[in-house]
Amino acid sequence: MADTQEIVSVLTESRVFPPPAEFSQRAHIRSMQDYQRLWDEAEKDPQKYWGDRAREELFWKEPFQTVLDWKPPHARWFVEGKTNLAYNCLDRHLPKLKDKPAILFEGEPGDRRAITYGELSQQVNRLANGLKSLGVKKGDRVGIYLPMVPEAAVAMLACARLGAVHSVVFGGFSAEALQERMKDAGVKVLLTADGGWRKGAVVPLMKNVEAALTHATGIEKVVVLTRTGDGKLPEGPKFLAWDALVKGQPDTCEPEWVESEHPLFILYTSGSTGKPKGVLHTTAGYAMNASLTTRWVFDLREDDVYWCTADVGWVTGHSYVVYGPLMNGVTTVLYEGAPTQPGPDRFWDIIERYKVSILYTAPTAIRAFMRLGDGPVKQHDLSSLRLLGSVGEPINPEAWMWYRDVIGGGRCPVVDTWWQTETGSIMISPLPGATPTKPGSATFPLPGIHAEILDRDGKRVPRGQGGLLFVTKPWPSMLRSVYGDPERYANTYFSELPGMYFTGDGARTDADGYVWLMGRVDDVVNVAGHRLGTAEVESALVAHAKVAEAAVVGRPDDLKGTALVAFVTLKQGNAPSDALKKELAAHVAKEIGAIARPDEIRFAEGLPKTRSGKIMRRLLRDVAAGNHSTQDTTTLEDLNVLAALRQNDE
Ligand code: WT7
Repeated sequence: MADTQEIVSVLTESRVFPPPAEFSQRAHIRSMQDYQRLWDEAEKDPQKYWGDRAREELFWKEPFQTVLDWKPPHARWFVEGKTNLAYNCLDRHLPKLKDKPAILFEGEPGDRRAITYGELSQQVNRLANGLKSLGVKKGDRVGIYLPMVPEAAVAMLACARLGAVHSVVFGGFSAEALQERMKDAGVKVLLTADGGWRKGAVVPLMKNVEAALTHATGIEKVVVLTRTGDGKLPEGPKFLAWDALVKGQPDTCEPEWVESEHPLFILYTSGSTGKPKGVLHTTAGYAMNASLTTRWVFDLREDDVYWCTADVGWVTGHSYVVYGPLMNGVTTVLYEGAPTQPGPDRFWDIIERYKVSILYTAPTAIRAFMRLGDGPVKQHDLSSLRLLGSVGEPINPEAWMWYRDVIGGGRCPVVDTWWQTETGSIMISPLPGATPTKPGSATFPLPGIHAEILDRDGKRVPRGQGGLLFVTKPWPSMLRSVYGDPERYANTYFSELPGMYFTGDGARTDADGYVWLMGRVDDVVNVAGHRLGTAEVESALVAHAKVAEAAVVGRPDDLKGTALVAFVTLKQGNAPSDALKKELAAHVAKEIGAIARPDEIRFAEGLPKTRSGKIMRRLLRDVAAGNHSTQDTTTLEDLNVLAALRQNDE
């Protein structure tokens, strides 16, 4: 950890941006001394530190007795306490905030709705009562497959109110991906819509649901919101209309007071092997960290209009679109559609119209806007903005500078926030009123977060050197398990160094102790801010009748961060062709979703392998990157020669 002395000493260097004085003066955390004090407090007595935070952040129906029970790799936080997350997001604000907008919604076609805390609370309670009438009770799993409409937040909160466990599936995922996740989670009721709007077209959610239901899922009821169509439901006793379910339901519903460790949600994320993992989060620890980090990192004030552009289908949407902002009683903007629909200035138009003060988005979006030039930005008055955030992948300094200068007018601090589905909340990030930022660095871990860069033996690497990023002590919003597979939980996250959480990321610190993330060290790639396991894409490819073998690697890409390159060998009797490339790409999109569609497919007659038969992905990564801008001359012989060379080297 850098001490304040050293941080101050780098201020004279170029490209270090101290927080603006006016910003610091009004901030929750105003200086590196304040930060250091919190850090020391957490270090000295973690139980007291986290216990105090939990008492401050949450309403407790019954107080907890034990802050932490840690039997690695299993943590239980705030044991014996009881709370309810929907109550924390809604009821406790109502005396003061009943008429304050909780959600400002804008649909892609331009439809708008402002929903106050009072109205949101009523909608949540009605749906909770409706779900109850379908037999949903504490501990049952409920699937959510919705576009970015307010009902997605209503659905999550209704589950939380009942103590039901939600599992949101991103609307861009295919029928196959949906079916796999619903089955794994044992979902009883699915909340969905006929469709959603994206790039001027309808995303056919209902069609995907019907296709998913042709296979075993265990789903008993499907509740359908009308968003894009005429309200006609598919045939059969499984389907019922959202409107019909909530109609006439009382708008009050007693919250289910759940234990701190009661499961809150399951969210699937890609790993380096096999099928997606159901990351399991529980109630109080998750809620506490989501609430605290939203206020500190985004320096929330009562009058902020806060916009996180993530979809609720990702963890960012859970923690920073729905739960974090609502626990803090701010107004959160929810936008349904594509960033450039109908024109390249849609985001800036939204910011100007709603007077958005905090914008939290992804580097891939920032780079896409950068390509469009400053023109669309300059058409709008963005003076309401006071803080900018970035998440999902390393942000390159050029994009960081553009974000700061062009979007933020040079006056808004930029917070580059590092975290993961598994961590539940932001772990490494500047505190905007305190931390001098450097373009491209996530700076320092938050107080109480022991993010450390170690070598494989667990030794801390010296400053300036790269290593593996671990979190060496438990934290409240950490995942508790992989749903239904505790062994995979232990193996994936706690086997590299016993008792320490391995992130899968590489990182280094610079001479000032700033953390710089260096991307994944496993077979996970980050495409446009979305995590994909290359093994998943490979297994989709080999499921195609014409494919014998496939190896998928990432290649650096200016826009998406990483692009997917698939090396494919075909079964006997099939010839490579452009048509087949298209067919395979479409096949992957169908199996997983459009986000997994390979950017490039290369046919080969053999894949380079080690003698033990492991595909040499490192070599393929070089091939994919090296031939990026030249003609594709890679042939079977080239690859075999390379492979042979490597084998001779061994
Ligand atoms: C992976 C987690 C956390 C919400 C979005 C992604 C990468 C995330 C940053 C950042 C560098 C980042 C890491 C991480 N990542 N934020 N600020 N700088 N890399 O959640 O899908 O669970 O992916 O995204 O590689 O491990 P996720």
